[in-house]
Amino acid sequence: KTEKKPASRKTVKMMQRNTNRLLNLVNQMLDLSKLDAGSMKLELVEGDLIKSLKLIVLSFASLAEQKKIKFSYTFPKEKWTTCFDQDKLEKILNNLLSNAFKYTPEGGEVKCVVKLPDPGKNLVEISIQDTGKGIPTDQLDKIFDRFHQVKESYEPESAGTGIGLSLTKELVNLLHGNIKVESELEKGTIFIVQIPVGKGY
Ligand SMILES: Nc1ncnc2c1ncn2[C@@H]1O[C@H](COP(=O)(O)OP(=O)(O)OP(=O)(O)O)[C@@H](O)[C@H]1O
Ligand SMILES: [Mg+2]
Repeated sequence: KTEKKPASRKTVKMMQRNTNRLLNLVNQMLDLSKLDAGSMKLELVEGDLIKSLKLIVLSFASLAEQKKIKFSYTFPKEKWTTCFDQDKLEKILNNLLSNAFKYTPEGGEVKCVVKLPDPGKNLVEISIQDTGKGIPTDQLDKIFDRFHQVKESYEPESAGTGIGLSLTKELVNLLHGNIKVESELEKGTIFIVQIPVGKGY
């Protein structure tokens, strides 16, 4: 009789990765549908903004280690209690950070800097910079379009659907913020997001 071998650790890992990828895709599609239906609502809750941002950013530490990418982050020292939409901020940061790690080769660097608003202002600024492959200048205004992917960037391991950045931009708009990108081929890319926080918005 033939005995079934238990799935190897490698197989289980691969299944886990694929399940996560699928789950992520389903969630992104759901978010797009919600945005189209106008049913994506702001959910402002008071909390420690810096602590929340730190948790999101630090969750990428193991990926950095795995991909042998230097990961550095700078947060303001002070605790900052304010009103913000945790869920949407998390989606925005997750998309930008996963792109940074996806499009940066081994030995590269990813840097995340969080700045509190200047006095009298309410815009928190988060920048995510990488030393990856960069984005061609003529593509810079297209990458925020739904399903747009830079052609040459197709590699099996970085396969995606081109939803991430469009969703990011739409979420940033929903939060009344803005997002900018600067990039140089083979040098790297920086995304800068500014989001208003606090009771007033
Ligand atoms: N940090 C980056 N460095 C280089 N290219 C990038 C970076 N971020 C995004 N891009 C380019 O912009 C395109 C769009 O990004 P987007 O996140 O929307 O899609 P994706 O990563 O391909 O798929 P997914 O829907 O899984 O996020 C990518 O295909 C890639 O070519
Ligand atoms: Mg992406």
